[in-house]
Amino acid sequence: MIASDIGTAYAAHVSVLQQRSERALERGGFDHLVVPSGTLHYQVFDDRDYAYAVNPQFKAWAPLTRNPGSWLVFTPGRKPKLVYLQPFDYWHVVPEAPSGYWVEHFDIVVIRTPEEAAQHLPADAARCAILGEPQSALGDYVPNNPPAVVQYLEYHRAFKTPYEIEMMRGASRTGVRAHRAAEAAFRNGGSEFDIHLAYCAAARQDAFELPYRNIVALNEHGAVLHYTELDRDAPADPRSFLIDAGAAHAGYASDITRTYARDTGSEFQQLIDAVDAAQQRMCAQVRAGIDYKRIHLDAHLALAGILKNFGISRLSPEAALETGVSSVFFPHGIGHGIGLQVHDVAGFAESDRGGTIAKPEGHPYLRLTRVLEPGMVVTIEPGIYFAELLLDGLRQGPHADAVDWNRIEQFRPYGGIRIEDDVVCTDGDPINLTRDAYAEAAAS
Ligand code: GLY
Ligand code: MN
Ligand code: MN
Repeated sequence: MIASDIGTAYAAHVSVLQQRSERALERGGFDHLVVPSGTLHYQVFDDRDYAYAVNPQFKAWAPLTRNPGSWLVFTPGRKPKLVYLQPFDYWHVVPEAPSGYWVEHFDIVVIRTPEEAAQHLPADAARCAILGEPQSALGDYVPNNPPAVVQYLEYHRAFKTPYEIEMMRGASRTGVRAHRAAEAAFRNGGSEFDIHLAYCAAARQDAFELPYRNIVALNEHGAVLHYTELDRDAPADPRSFLIDAGAAHAGYASDITRTYARDTGSEFQQLIDAVDAAQQRMCAQVRAGIDYKRIHLDAHLALAGILKNFGISRLSPEAALETGVSSVFFPHGIGHGIGLQVHDVAGFAESDRGGTIAKPEGHPYLRLTRVLEPGMVVTIEPGIYFAELLLDGLRQGPHADAVDWNRIEQFRPYGGIRIEDDVVCTDGDPINLTRDAYAEAAAS
């Protein structure tokens, strides 16, 4: 998108935020929305701070992710106000003066100390919905996070504006560029740590700037769903590589997983190809009106079919789902909403007034149970893993005969497979941000 188009898309985005905020304030009976960007957190008995993480309610308004001590104020009928902290400080680099496509949409007040912000907030704190963490409190301005306001905003945040989708395209492009560098580092025999550094270098993002910790898993480590150890030494025999890593762009996240076999003629490669083909069929299910729970349960059937075709399971897909055997190999949800946060909020929200849509029984790790509607962006991330702990449970349980243990032993040294894309639900065909970014990268 060229700069003037971003400006236009951003103007429309801010207008949507204003409308949503107006409704949210009505619901909660407040006059003003007040959002602190957050403050630094310090380590216990120490003067060192943890990596700063901006309040997502703040970065929803402006692409500011490194500005602790700033505040957003919205009063219906008025231009939003940004109270922007630019401290006098010779210890650290001070944030630059606000600039870019977004600044004209705010009345901006620059302050030099965090305490000065109070003078620029609405006079009566009791009339404010203040969204933030407790330690952002400043005098009377104590975050109250009124449920009616938060529920309304979070429910509607599932529906991305065209500006947000463009920012997520940016996050996908950066992530894909880094994934390609990581694959090359794997094929060059790098350790998990080497691959991680190659990823960060290609993304031009330090580890703390990424939307979540990189999962860089060689061989059996691929079976650990959230493996973040980063071994410094390369294994003697690198067989497989699972990488789950994203990138950030203007405060938005991508979340991408790929799995590779060192030997592309191996049976493990065939298993990857089968999961990849099934994953693309699941991505095609991301259509308005489809219940995301349906995609999750269909994924179990598809993966159980693959397990049967490869002689790993002896059960029909339906029986594998019914008995819980499919969950031994696919023990997590098919995905989640994504946006300002890698696991976006309101995945179970029944409405903008609250309520919860339950997970299907026996599927405790599904993070999204809503019916898909245009504008939602979700991940689709099926996997097949050979995880010792779960296999032990199967071996000791009533369904031990449902699988061929020799076949499992053949695949166990490869750890597991996950393929994950970020997909936009539209009025028509889905848009796969991840595959689009791979296609662009291959063409350039
Ligand atoms: N990267 C964490 C996840 O895929 O949900
Ligand atoms: Mn994910
Ligand atoms: Mn992921």
